[in-house]
Amino acid sequence: MEKILIFDTTLRDGEQAPGASMTSFQKLEVACQLEKLGVDIIEAGFPIASPDDFAAVKEAAKLIKRGSVCALARCIDKDIERAGQSLKKARHPRIHLFLATSKIHLKYKFKKAEDEIATIARNSIRKAKKFCSDIEFSPEDATRTEKDFLFRMIEMAINEGAHTINIPDTVGYSYPQEIYSLITDIRNNVPNIGKAVIAIHCHNDLGLATANSLSAVLAGARQVHCTINGIGERAGNASLEEIVMAMKTRKDVFGNFYNGINTKEIYRTSRLVSKLTDFVVAPNKAIVGRNAFAHESGIHQDAILKKRITYEIMDPHDVGIASSQLILGKHSGRHAFRDRLKELGFNLNDQQLNKAFLRFKEVADKKKDIYDDDLRIIVEDEIRSVKPIWRLRSFEVNSGTRIKPKAEVVLLKGSKDIPGVSSGDGPVDACFKAIDKITGYKAKLEDFRLEAVTSGKDALGQVSLKLKVKNSIISGRGASTDIVEAAVKAYIDAANKIGSK
Ligand code: KIV
Ligand code: ZN
Repeated sequence: MEKILIFDTTLRDGEQAPGASMTSFQKLEVACQLEKLGVDIIEAGFPIASPDDFAAVKEAAKLIKRGSVCALARCIDKDIERAGQSLKKARHPRIHLFLATSKIHLKYKFKKAEDEIATIARNSIRKAKKFCSDIEFSPEDATRTEKDFLFRMIEMAINEGAHTINIPDTVGYSYPQEIYSLITDIRNNVPNIGKAVIAIHCHNDLGLATANSLSAVLAGARQVHCTINGIGERAGNASLEEIVMAMKTRKDVFGNFYNGINTKEIYRTSRLVSKLTDFVVAPNKAIVGRNAFAHESGIHQDAILKKRITYEIMDPHDVGIASSQLILGKHSGRHAFRDRLKELGFNLNDQQLNKAFLRFKEVADKKKDIYDDDLRIIVEDEIRSVKPIWRLRSFEVNSGTRIKPKAEVVLLKGSKDIPGVSSGDGPVDACFKAIDKITGYKAKLEDFRLEAVTSGKDALGQVSLKLKVKNSIISGRGASTDIVEAAVKAYIDAANKIGSK
């Protein structure tokens, strides 16, 4: 088995993502977590970029024991000196030098000829070697570089003592077959390539960063540059979690390779980076997104409950997520609904379950996700009103700042619809009075409380109220995504108790 080295650049390329900057203190927190995760090389920053970047690399260099700590430098003397100084205390220091080699960059960015670029790179590698023996060289924009020049640059860099040659797809332009051919060509055309490790560094402009990185591994790359949550310049970098989990999951393809990542730390690391950078992970992000192990469709939920592998190719435990989530919503089936109720401690008979399920579907049509607290309310509602005298058929309210609120409520008694119409001080009051007209009860509202059961703008509202009838106090409860409906239900609930006295 061959080891694939994981080079994490969350703290350097990842931090270059617009708006993702971290303080040196926060970077240290991430560096420690990356060490726990088991990455082989931590690119801790670009020391020349700012005093804080310098401090971050310097502190990480002191702290990290297991892996290498790497500092980025352009092929410029002051960059190299700064990188060298920042790594003084590192147990395993590495300087990562980069210099663009593509025609586009040479012509527009540097206005220099190929030979001049080769000389600058040679001198920089020699200088960097004075600070540490472990040098990684990146011909920036390698995938758009003329192949002959690229091979020449790589050969020179290895001759000067670079142990790792990184191939950056700087603008995320390549597709997997091209990367495969490029790495193969490098292996076949650079005479001393056997003395260096080939690394791959892919950007995600076309959404191909992970695929390209994996393709490079199959072609002979033995080090992969990646970031947590795929953060990085523009559309980001290849994401560590995707690469590692693809290799673990597709043993049929990557069975000859292993890496040092403790996958159980993936989710924790993802959360930490998201929190510290304020970069929200998209819900559908592979491996670490909120929905990556969540199932809403009834067909999927049913199958998952029978056998997880029907719709899951990875075990959530493997990435540090406690369990798959069956999200109850409008697509959920009876099986998942019943299972969740059991977990919540409700043992309903078939009739109760049917009623609760119908009510759940009604609520799910209005509310996207149904949380456990919503479920409790739905079920308790159904259990309590097993044999009601009055049931809500419909209601309509007309209310506003320039009209007196008016309500029309229709209650079902037995099999008969009975309408009631009334005006009131507000929409709820108008409904209550309309209900009084139907039931004929004379009740005084003593207490009225409205609370949101769960959070979010589509949260279920629960109304609890108390009615005074003669000398007794009768309570009622109702829940709905519509608060007037919740109030109406609570009032009917109380009315049914009065009727059954
Ligand atoms: O994308 C890129 O080319 C880089 C280099 C510094 C390796 O990040
Ligand atoms: Zn990059």
